[in-house]
Amino acid sequence: MKLRLLGILSACILIAACNQDKIYLDTPLDQLLASSVVRASKSNDLSHFILPESDDFASIPQDPRNPLTKEKVELGKMLFFETGIALSPTKEAGKKTYSCASCHVPSAGFRPGTPQGIADGGIGFGSNGENRSKLAAYRDFEMDVQSVRPLSVLNVAYVENTTWNGRFGSTGVNVGTEDRWDLDPTLHVNEEGFAALETQNIEGLEVHRMEITEEVLDDYGYRTYFDQAFAEDSDEERYSKRNAAFAISAYLRTLLTNQSPFQDYLKGDKEALSEQEKRGALVFFSDAKCYHCHKEKNLGANEFYALGVNDLYQTGVAFNTSKEDVRNLGRGEYSGKAEDNHKFKIPQLYNLGDSPFYFHGSSKYSLKEVVEYFNEGIPENSDVPTEQVARQFKPLNLSDQQVEDLTVFLESGLRDPNLNRYVPERVLSGFCFPNNDLFSQIELGCE
Ligand code: HEC
Ligand code: HEC
Repeated sequence: MKLRLLGILSACILIAACNQDKIYLDTPLDQLLASSVVRASKSNDLSHFILPESDDFASIPQDPRNPLTKEKVELGKMLFFETGIALSPTKEAGKKTYSCASCHVPSAGFRPGTPQGIADGGIGFGSNGENRSKLAAYRDFEMDVQSVRPLSVLNVAYVENTTWNGRFGSTGVNVGTEDRWDLDPTLHVNEEGFAALETQNIEGLEVHRMEITEEVLDDYGYRTYFDQAFAEDSDEERYSKRNAAFAISAYLRTLLTNQSPFQDYLKGDKEALSEQEKRGALVFFSDAKCYHCHKEKNLGANEFYALGVNDLYQTGVAFNTSKEDVRNLGRGEYSGKAEDNHKFKIPQLYNLGDSPFYFHGSSKYSLKEVVEYFNEGIPENSDVPTEQVARQFKPLNLSDQQVEDLTVFLESGLRDPNLNRYVPERVLSGFCFPNNDLFSQIELGCE
């Protein structure tokens, strides 16, 4: 210990500019936590869990056929919020009223502020997306809603196969499942071999009823942005919907929660986490064994498990879904294999406290309830056969204090307080965003 302190001090004298505040002595809790995190990491050091800076393009995973550039990120940052590309709604009333961010609301951790996301066919925003509801002119089946809760797009650069059942992307767990892509027209795009994110977003612009038209290019003024982002493409290719998907993908790859307290702590600021958050992190990386599954850089993983949680229809407030909905089968819906039924992808865990709906079916309304669910280890959904449920899902016997500490770690230790840096000041149409219906305009202060 003494030697180490001497080492730090002499290093400081050498660097001269060393800030007195930055000299930390590890407490026993810090040492215990560091060794648990290192043990949980693949690379055997803390860096396994450290997210890169958003402009450090060389360090962010990307598709070699869609390399990250500043120009693409800038274009994608506007298109993701652009209500002016909402040009193929089911009904005229929905036109130019919604965007990707209707369901991926930045202040809600890039998830919706409601149990189910609603884009076309929805109205209202509130202050955090919580007032979004059905537009009267639409029948349920005409709405753009899905039968699972939207995943966050934070840290999605580290998602190898996207969606709760991993359906997009030709690599990762989808190698060997190529025969499935013919069965579903929305999966043909997997055959082109792009990374999952690019693949999903090509399809996403279709599913969410968005277009890149002359109006978008010339009246709003996006043409020059496409020129800058896709200069090497021919004229026919340059202004395509596909390039819009590539630009959005580039932007999404930069959505990293690298300013969260846990990240600062890993990077050496030992005071970034409170004592309680440190104790909670220790529970996560030791007794509660959360890291067995939440083990990649984004604290998610490209693996599928059944935790026996309720499906979205069981909330009683979701549109267009039911007990018979095939989406309730999770990975099994995609693979067609009974052994995959009711298994869902392990999601990332940052900024979850920003919107109080948890699991694929929004069955829990607070992180404390989530932690208690894991601690009790009793499946809540009788539709899920017990033999499907992950064997790791069993009573953990954590103390009340450990439950509290773990909850606080999830809630504030893993919360990047500055996601606003990923929101554009404006979109080129000048329209209100993330929604542009009359209610949202008032609630967002656009008019
Ligand atoms: C109507 C709500 C809604 C809209 C609008 C929407 N999404 Fe999503 N998004 C979802 C849902 C639901 C999921 C999870 C889908 C699933 O698991 O089947 C999702 C998942 C994703 C994922 C995968 C995340 C992961 O970790 O696997 C990405 C990427 C994504 N959306 C990007 C976009 C983009 C880009 C747009 C705009 C073109 C968009 N979304 C618009 C609801 C929406
Ligand atoms: C067996 C693997 C496994 C273990 C162990 C595990 N998780 Fe998970 N976790 C998952 C899967 C899979 C989901 C998604 C389940 C679903 O929605 O159907 C999930 C979902 C979550 C969610 C909800 C995220 C969201 O977006 O709604 C939280 C929070 C969470 N886990 C935290 C934890 C904590 C804390 C622990 C340790 C007590 C833990 N997990 C242990 C696999 C695991």
